[in-house]
Amino acid sequence: MRESRFLAKESGLVHRVRGGKPCKSGFLCRGVGSRDLAAVAETRAQRHILPMAILKIARMGHPVLSRIAQPVADPTAPEIRALVVDMVQTMIDANGAGLAAPQVYVPLRVVIFQAPPERAPEGMDEEESYDHTAALTVLINPEIERLGDAMEEGWEGCLSVPGLRGLVPRHSEIIYRGLGLDGEMIERRAKGFHARVVQHECDHLDGILYPQRMSDLGNLIFESEVRARIEAEAESQAEAENREQAADA
Ligand code: NI
Repeated sequence: MRESRFLAKESGLVHRVRGGKPCKSGFLCRGVGSRDLAAVAETRAQRHILPMAILKIARMGHPVLSRIAQPVADPTAPEIRALVVDMVQTMIDANGAGLAAPQVYVPLRVVIFQAPPERAPEGMDEEESYDHTAALTVLINPEIERLGDAMEEGWEGCLSVPGLRGLVPRHSEIIYRGLGLDGEMIERRAKGFHARVVQHECDHLDGILYPQRMSDLGNLIFESEVRARIEAEAESQAEAENREQAADA
């Protein structure tokens, strides 16, 4: 882990995002055991590129987002590593939690994501929160196994659907498998936001955007309205509870 942090620091990947500004992602800066981050940093050093390559992001309606992406033949190929370097930089620049290759016009089965501890439910101990978190992860040719029928709803956004948020049902618990940039298998159990971000990103590889997963399009709203919506819901719930208490009295 120390080595990966060193490489990342040496290459400037995590500490300078554009024009020497500090990186927005404190989570990534900690470089939690990420061998892929080390690989990304190494590639960047090899390329001798100072400015970051921020890629253009495809928006809903572009055909690249509705196609089935192709499996990657060799996850260790230099061009895949170079693609991932640019995807990581693009995701950080856009302040996203995940990104799939088709979103940057590359129809290959490659996703990156992170599930930082801040997104895990509050009050969990370290062991409980383990399945809820993931350091920056590169997953190539991923597969998802759904554990049980339990679903939960949560608000999602997507860099390809800018400005909007939707309430999307997802499987609460999954196991995912895929290859890292070193060609080694990654297998993890995921819950909550961690499970959600992986399902969202893997859907991109099958040409599916989150609005297609929604059960009620009345819950597709502008980002600026999410807070008001959540507050209104909390208020009406409190009112209902008050009424119940009054009825009991
Ligand atoms: Ni997305």
